[in-house]
Amino acid sequence: MVKIAPSILSADSASLGKEVSALASAGADMIHIDVMDGNYVPNLTFGPGVVKALRPYCKLPFDVHLMVQNPDVMIRWFADAGADIITVHAETCPHLDKTLETIRQYGIKAGVSLNPATPENCIEYVLDKVDQILVMTVNPGFGGQSFIENQLEKISKIKNMIGDRPIEIEVDGGINPMTASECIAAGADILVAGTSVFAGGDYRKNINALR
Ligand code: DX5
Ligand code: ZN
Repeated sequence: MVKIAPSILSADSASLGKEVSALASAGADMIHIDVMDGNYVPNLTFGPGVVKALRPYCKLPFDVHLMVQNPDVMIRWFADAGADIITVHAETCPHLDKTLETIRQYGIKAGVSLNPATPENCIEYVLDKVDQILVMTVNPGFGGQSFIENQLEKISKIKNMIGDRPIEIEVDGGINPMTASECIAAGADILVAGTSVFAGGDYRKNINALR
């Protein structure tokens, strides 16, 4: 069964604690936290202090997606703050193999993300150090963008590349009930969604529609 990871980028920022509790009650499987540094992407969001403050509000895994220029210095901050999964962008890691090892050394899951323009072969030699592969189906930085269709082919290629390794494929950006089913058919295991989960305010109905 596919997992749903609502992105709190689309939540009410003045009530984040209540929002993550509500998402848990509505049947979310994990909470996706988009960390942006105003440098790697032209937007600025949550620091480790926010992650730590949210931790008591919900027991679901915190899926921290680092869209930052220098993730290596921040892994420790977010691991200490209560992240269960930390995903770095392959494009930001000159020593990706080492970075993924470092994440696992904190006893948490390691994820690697690929932008729409990045080919899947750049992660071929780190597959044994990865728990989750995040395929960006929009360019990172903002919610509410349109799904980039040609990423479906990349999802299928990654699915084949993974073989029988215990790696989950996550998709992020422009996910709605229609693109969700295309991604699931291509091999996605986890759907990140901001706009389509928060639209209209009935989180349970929206999460069920994505499944
Ligand atoms: C984009 C973020 C996404 C974003 C998805 O850079 O990584 O997680 O919140 O938003 P929607 O679902 O609105 O495309
Ligand atoms: Zn994200």
